[in-house]
Amino acid sequence: MIEVTNITKKYGSFFALDDITLDIASNKVTAIVGENGSGKSTLLNIMGRLNNATSGSVLLDSKDINTYASLEYACKIATLKQANTINLRLRVIDLVGFGRYPHNQGRLNADDILIVEESLAFMQCLDLRDKFIDQLSGGQLQRVYIAMILAQDTDVMLLDEPLNNLDLKHAHELMELIRQLVDEHGKTVVIIMHDLNMVYRYVDNIIALKHGRLICDGAVDDVLNEHMLHEIYDMHFEIQKCETHTVAFIK
Ligand SMILES: Nc1ncnc2c1ncn2[C@@H]1O[C@H](COP(=O)(O)OP(=O)(O)OP(=O)(O)O)[C@@H](O)[C@H]1O
Ligand SMILES: [Mg+2]
Repeated sequence: MIEVTNITKKYGSFFALDDITLDIASNKVTAIVGENGSGKSTLLNIMGRLNNATSGSVLLDSKDINTYASLEYACKIATLKQANTINLRLRVIDLVGFGRYPHNQGRLNADDILIVEESLAFMQCLDLRDKFIDQLSGGQLQRVYIAMILAQDTDVMLLDEPLNNLDLKHAHELMELIRQLVDEHGKTVVIIMHDLNMVYRYVDNIIALKHGRLICDGAVDDVLNEHMLHEIYDMHFEIQKCETHTVAFIK
């Protein structure tokens, strides 16, 4: 679905990404992991066309992403950035309504409003609909931004640390929702996350970056072993498999 080929991103002489080649499988949850500064957001933002690669190509459905018109692309891929700062005094309902922009260019019809309300309900923030976004807690705001991405209703969602600021309950509920979107609605989700136990529980495929290089790419169950965790984090882990869950402990 998404084919990344020889992507390099340089800032001056620094390689934020160094010759990355990988495929994102459709209808799966793919997590990108790696230490701070390893290039995760850079890779996600290049796939989402929020950043340009220095060299290499990204194809979506066999077409170079730069050949899509902006609105067409925004109907196919939605990207949640790591840090979202909108300095407008907006109500929640209007912010989430922006998610419909690629479909309606700002003229919300009854269907759009229904989708906006469904997205808010999905994220359990329908009760926040008339609040201003500067009145929300960090976790509430994060859920509202995710509702905006849901409202965009694209086949592909690129999520940069969506679990940030979420309490344990809402974090698990979001991962359950992501599984539902993939398993029941045919979506493709790429998610940057740090919690390995959430990865084992909810994710299909893993991409690990280190110093801008790809060091691991495959099915979680096949590749995310103790040896690989040591490679990724330079720390020793012990993995324990219970009946239903896999858990990684730092040794
Ligand atoms: N505009 C920029 N100019 C110079 N260097 C940059 C720029 N943006 C990112 N970098 C550098 O590129 C590297 C990768 O950054 P990136 O944001 O992709 O990391 P990350 O893996 O998402 O980290 P984190 O887990 O902290 O979010 C970092 O070393 C960062 O300092
Ligand atoms: Mg990042």
